This record gives sequence, C-alpha cells and structure tokens, in this order.
Amino acid sequence: MTEAHKAQVQSQFGRTAEEYVKSPDHAGGEDLERLLAWGRARGAARVLDIATGGGHTALGFAGFTRSVVATDVTEPMLRAARRFIHGRGAAGVRFVAADVEALPFRDAAFGMVTCRLAAHHFPELLPAVRQVSRVLVPGGAFLIQDILGREDRDLAAFILEVEKRRDPSHVRAFTQREWAAFLKAAGLTVIDEMIMEREREWEQWTERMRMTAEAKADLERFVLAAPAACREAFGFKIDGHRIVSFADGILLLRADKD
Ligand SMILES: C[S@@+](CC[C@H](N)C(=O)[O-])C[C@H]1O[C@@H](n2cnc3c(N)ncnc32)[C@H](O)[C@@H]1O
Repeated sequence: MTEAHKAQVQSQFGRTAEEYVKSPDHAGGEDLERLLAWGRARGAARVLDIATGGGHTALGFAGFTRSVVATDVTEPMLRAARRFIHGRGAAGVRFVAADVEALPFRDAAFGMVTCRLAAHHFPELLPAVRQVSRVLVPGGAFLIQDILGREDRDLAAFILEVEKRRDPSHVRAFTQREWAAFLKAAGLTVIDEMIMEREREWEQWTERMRMTAEAKADLERFVLAAPAACREAFGFKIDGHRIVSFADGILLLRADKD
C-alpha cells in the first residue's frame, strides 16, 4: 500500500469512524449471519478480523470464540471499535493497528481470518491474501465478504465511478474469478461461495461518508445522466429526480488453507 493511499484511507475512515459503528448496513444483515454461521460450524480458538471498521464482525465472532484480534489500518477507527465492543461487554478482543499487507503476527497464528466489506479498499488483492494465508494454520479458514466486482466493463466502470465519487479511498471490487485465482495463488481453496443482493438506502449511504452537498449533487447528476441499462443493473430506485436506493451484489467466500 503506498503512503498516499494509506493516508487517503486513514483520512476517509478516521473522520467517519463513529458513523461506521452506528451504520445499520454494518451492524448486521444476512451476510454477517452467513459468516457467523460458517464460523460457528468451523470453530477456532483464535480469530483474526482484518479491517475491522466499527467492529461488528469482530463482536459477532467474540460471541463464540475465546480470542479475537481486531485489526485496522485507521487508528481512530480501531479506537471507535474498541469503545463499541467494550461497551457491549465482550471480553477476549484485542485491538492491533495493522495494514493487511504487513500483518504483525507470526506464521500460523490463527485458525480463522475474517474480512468483511473492506477488500475493495486494498490496492492489490494478492499481497493481502498471501498475508492471510501466512497467518492461518494449515486447514484454517478465511471467511470473506465484499462487494461483487462486475465482469461487464461498462457496468464495472459505472459503479466504480459512483463508489469513487462517494469515497475516494475505494479502489475497486474484485470479480468472483479474480478472488478464486488470487486465493488459489496464495494456497487457499474455495469451499463455499454465494452471492447476495443488498439494498443501499441512498441518503444513509452518502451521509455515512459525509459527502459535501456539492459532491453529492454531482454524484446524483452523474447517476441520473448514466445509461438506463447501468441504473437498471444496480436496481436504482428514483422518485422524480431523487435517488431513493440502489442494490449491489455481495460476494461471500469461505476458503480453506491447503
Ligand atoms: C467499511 S469498513 C469495514 C467494515 C467492517 N469489517 C464490518 O464488518 O463492519 C472498511 C475498513 O477497512 C479499513 N482498511 C482499508 N484498507 C486497509 C488496509 N490496507 N489494511 C487494513 N485495514 C484497511 C479501513 O480503515 C476501514 O476501517
């Protein structure tokens, strides 16, 4: 991760940390339930949650795991997650500032690694996945949830522009094929995968990133002027000239270390 990109991520998430703790999109949902169900079925004494954000995934795993380590590259985010998790009375969660590309843990330190709604911020996926593989025990599980990257170039370009205008630290969502290839290259085999659709309420989604009124109006003009096929593919609901919501695909993967 370049210093410039790291600074952008830290600036973006440092000032919006509390919004992520409070975000209903992050606090729960069918996707988090699926990760937790995979985690419970598998079980592990030590779990690492990468890019913990407001800490919702780490908190969920702390409910049935002896030790959870929550990491994030943005220290104010990590402090917000610590306050939130301690406020919920969860013991056994440790907080460590770390970039996914340089995890400060010994090899084979964890039985399970989780990473939810964060990989689209990673400048490259392979170095991140290699780090995950390194810190997993052989046979350990990597549980992933992220925005689904589109194979169609026009749709991918459209949604990338929408995401980047809202959050300049967004890099891109990886496709299912890219995930499978990078996981394989890092010595991980996909055991389970599924795609879910998730509705994003527009006001909440743009507010969370504290967009300026001008940037938000520009983004709305961009969406309304885009080809109808792009809006349709992402289920944009429009009321007059007001964007109400849209829907994106969420990819969930469970991969085991060979
Ligand atoms: C949307 S939040 C994550 C949500 C959280 N995992 C959950 O389940 O609610 C994205 C987080 O990724 C973190 N992040 C981005 N790039 C990172 C990197 N290279 N290493 C570690 N954390 C990173 C950001 O600081 C931010 O806190």
